[in-house]
Amino acid sequence: MKRKPFIAANWKMHKSIEEGISFFNSFHEKVKNISDRETGLCVPYTMLYEIGKLKKHLNSPIALGAENMHFEEQGAFTGEISHDMLLECGVDYVIIGHSERRHVFGETDEVLNKKMHKLQSKNQMKAIFCIGELLEEREAGKTNEVLRRQMKQGLDGITKEFASTMVVAYEPVWAIGTGVSATKDDAVNAITFVRKELNELYDEETAQKIRIQYGGSVKPNNIHEYMDSEEIDGALVGGAALKVDSFVQVLTKW
Ligand code: PGA
Repeated sequence: MKRKPFIAANWKMHKSIEEGISFFNSFHEKVKNISDRETGLCVPYTMLYEIGKLKKHLNSPIALGAENMHFEEQGAFTGEISHDMLLECGVDYVIIGHSERRHVFGETDEVLNKKMHKLQSKNQMKAIFCIGELLEEREAGKTNEVLRRQMKQGLDGITKEFASTMVVAYEPVWAIGTGVSATKDDAVNAITFVRKELNELYDEETAQKIRIQYGGSVKPNNIHEYMDSEEIDGALVGGAALKVDSFVQVLTKW
């Protein structure tokens, strides 16, 4: 089955609203006619509404993403953001379980599973579900074990119908923001394992539908290595997605 490649930016805690809008305008101009691959921008909450409006106005094919979401409907959760608040801004994708959420903010597989269930029950926005091992886990030979646990627990009770709409981002934690990207072989091996696990959790048809990205120090000069592989369906890009030219190259140089 042919899966459409998906290259997404994760801006993290960067950019003013004005900078975000200006990026969106010029990025849209450069990519609006590209249809054989999908692109998306996951941006800070402050600019979601404005960029969502702009996207609608330009009828832009760029997907809009949020970097996180709370699992409750509403209520006394100071500092959090709900599903419906994101949807109201025109969000298409929500990153669930980015390694910084897991390891800096202590989000557990159980919490992430609740977030996946919220997305599933509403069925309006898609998940970019992130998994990946720490350096010490890799060195201890536990990479597959960690990936299996993150998928089994994070996707517990998620139906194959909803799972087939999600994107999985395999992001080894030691490669994120470090400049040390995974080798093509490491990425392919892990992603092949992830698809095999999805096959076990669901079935062959579902596993073949799910797009699996690689993330971790992806740059214009290494993207082609990953995209050369049939197994890798795209990338989640941090640092190299903060400048229009560099992100356009990541999207097009392969
Ligand atoms: P990086 O970040 O490309 O800067 O390594 C990737 C990510 O955190 O998604």
